[in-house]
Amino acid sequence: MRITVLTGAGISAESGLATFRASDGLWENHRIEDIATPEALERDPALVHDFYNMRRQKAAEVQPNAAHRALAKLAGAHDLTLITQNVDDLHERGGSPDVIHMHGALNSALCGSCDARWQAPKLMRPEDRCPACGACATRPDIVWFGEVPYHMERIWQALDEAELFAAIGTSGNVYPAAGFAQHSARSGVECIELNLEESANSRDFSRRIPGPASRTVPEWVETLLA
Ligand code: APR
Repeated sequence: MRITVLTGAGISAESGLATFRASDGLWENHRIEDIATPEALERDPALVHDFYNMRRQKAAEVQPNAAHRALAKLAGAHDLTLITQNVDDLHERGGSPDVIHMHGALNSALCGSCDARWQAPKLMRPEDRCPACGACATRPDIVWFGEVPYHMERIWQALDEAELFAAIGTSGNVYPAAGFAQHSARSGVECIELNLEESANSRDFSRRIPGPASRTVPEWVETLLA
């Protein structure tokens, strides 16, 4: 079966990575616009680099959980397209062979001048030079607010070809990802939501499986392997 899965911060929560939308509206004690926009990098590059260096370090310290591993198993049995909004590499370390990082990746560096990409160092600094063009414009390879997500052509195609769409651990607040369920449902594709609680777009799904991803995802995957 052709299956498209979208994951969000909730799938990595039980590995120990904080989700974005905590009840206080802050993200690791920062306002999102202070650290996750191109303007923030211009205003205070040291703050932005420190924040992403901390997130990169934290992501390297934690381990994939049963939900990540179950999706790797699903890829072995079905024609799966795995799209993640997460910038950690827990899907890859959980065994998934092909992961579409629509919001970028912590372990990648991007030159803001010539668009070259390279393996991010442990600690990225504003004064780091691009290995390709020499510009002092190194930034985390992350899609910030106000920027266009990556791989959208491939993603829309996978959604259009899927027979089943599932969203796991995402609050349905950030577009275009928040619109994938409605897009799929309109063309008659079954849409399933696996989330701890109701999301902003739960109504777009024909089925909801509430609960923590480390339990619900392996159980759901087993039903597809049977
Ligand atoms: N299992 C399943 N779902 C969980 C779990 C869990 N253990 N823990 C939390 N959740 C759910 C929350 O209930 C919430 O609905 O995961 C969702 C996480 O939502 P967000 O924190 O908003 O994360 P996400 O949807 O991935 O954010 C989208 O916003 O800040 C930007 O670019 C960033 O990619 C991110 C995007």
